[in-house]
Amino acid sequence: MPATKTALVAGGSGGIGEGIVKTLIADGFVVYVPTRAGDNSERLQAFVDNSELLRLIPADLCSEGEVSALRDEIVSEANSLDAVVVSVGSRYFGHRLHRMPRTDWDRSIQDNLATHFNLQRSFVDLLRSQDTGVYITLIGPESESIHPEEGVVSIMAGAQKMMTRVIAQEAFDSNVRVHTVTAHTSITTRSRGENVNPDWIAAEELGRYVLALINGTIPGSNDVMHELRNQNHVDALLKAARA
Ligand SMILES: NC(=O)c1ccc[n+]([C@@H]2O[C@H](COP(=O)([O-])OP(=O)(O)OC[C@H]3O[C@@H](n4cnc5c(N)ncnc54)[C@H](OP(=O)(O)O)[C@@H]3O)[C@@H](O)[C@H]2O)c1
Repeated sequence: MPATKTALVAGGSGGIGEGIVKTLIADGFVVYVPTRAGDNSERLQAFVDNSELLRLIPADLCSEGEVSALRDEIVSEANSLDAVVVSVGSRYFGHRLHRMPRTDWDRSIQDNLATHFNLQRSFVDLLRSQDTGVYITLIGPESESIHPEEGVVSIMAGAQKMMTRVIAQEAFDSNVRVHTVTAHTSITTRSRGENVNPDWIAAEELGRYVLALINGTIPGSNDVMHELRNQNHVDALLKAARA
C-alpha cells in the first residue's frame, strides 16, 4: 500500500484555502489545518468529502510558540510532511496609507507577515530536515496592482511574494522546492456567492494546480514563480500537465 501523503494548508478555513483542502483530500492527502476560535472550521468540515482525512489543530499563526507546537503535533502524528500550502492574510479598506492608523498597520503586519514568517521558520526548517517536500505560498493580484485606501494589501502581498522568493533562493542546497503561485484574477469562492466572473480562477481549480505542482507534473514545476492569468490559462496548464 502506498504511504499516506500529508499536507499542511495554513488558511485552509478561508475562502481560497478550503478549495485547496478539498482538492488535496480528494486526492487522498491527510490535510492539517490550523484553526482559531470562531473560525470557519465547521463549514470546512461539511464542505470536504472524506472529512476523516481532515485534521484541525488549534493554532494562532501570529504566535511563534503555537506554530512551533503545530509542527510538533504534525510530526508526532504523521512523521513527515509532503507539502505546505499557505493562503493566509487579511484584507483592508478605509484609509490612504499616510492616514492609516498605526494600530491598523500593526495588525496588518501581524496577520500578513508575522504569520508567514512563523510558518516559514517552523515548516521550511522541517522540510529541510527531511530534505524533501514542497512549500507553496498563494499570492493575490494585489502584489502587482494598487488600489487607493487599500494600498497596504499590495504592500503585504508584495512582501509575502518576496519572502517566499528569498526562501526559495536559500533552498538551493536542499531538495526542498519552494514556489509562489500568483493568481492575477480574483478567486471564485463559495463566500462570493453569485458575485463572480467567468474569467476568475475557481478555488478548486487553483487547488488542482497546486496539487499538480506538488506532484511535479505541471509544466515548469521547477520554476519558483508561477503566474496564473485567468481560468482559461489554468485550464490550459492543467491540460498540459503530465498524467
Ligand atoms: N486572487 C486572489 O484574490 C488571491 C489569490 C491567492 C492568494 N490570495 C491571498 O490569500 C489569502 C487568503 O484569501 P481568502 O480570500 O481565502 O481570505 P479569507 O477567506 O479571509 O481567509 C483567510 C485565511 O487566513 C487565516 N488567518 C488570517 N490571519 C490568521 C492568523 N493570525 N492565524 C491563523 N489564521 C489566520 C484565516 O483564518 P480564520 O478562519 O481563523 O480567520 C483564514 O483561514 C489572502 O491574503 C489573499 O490576499 C488572494
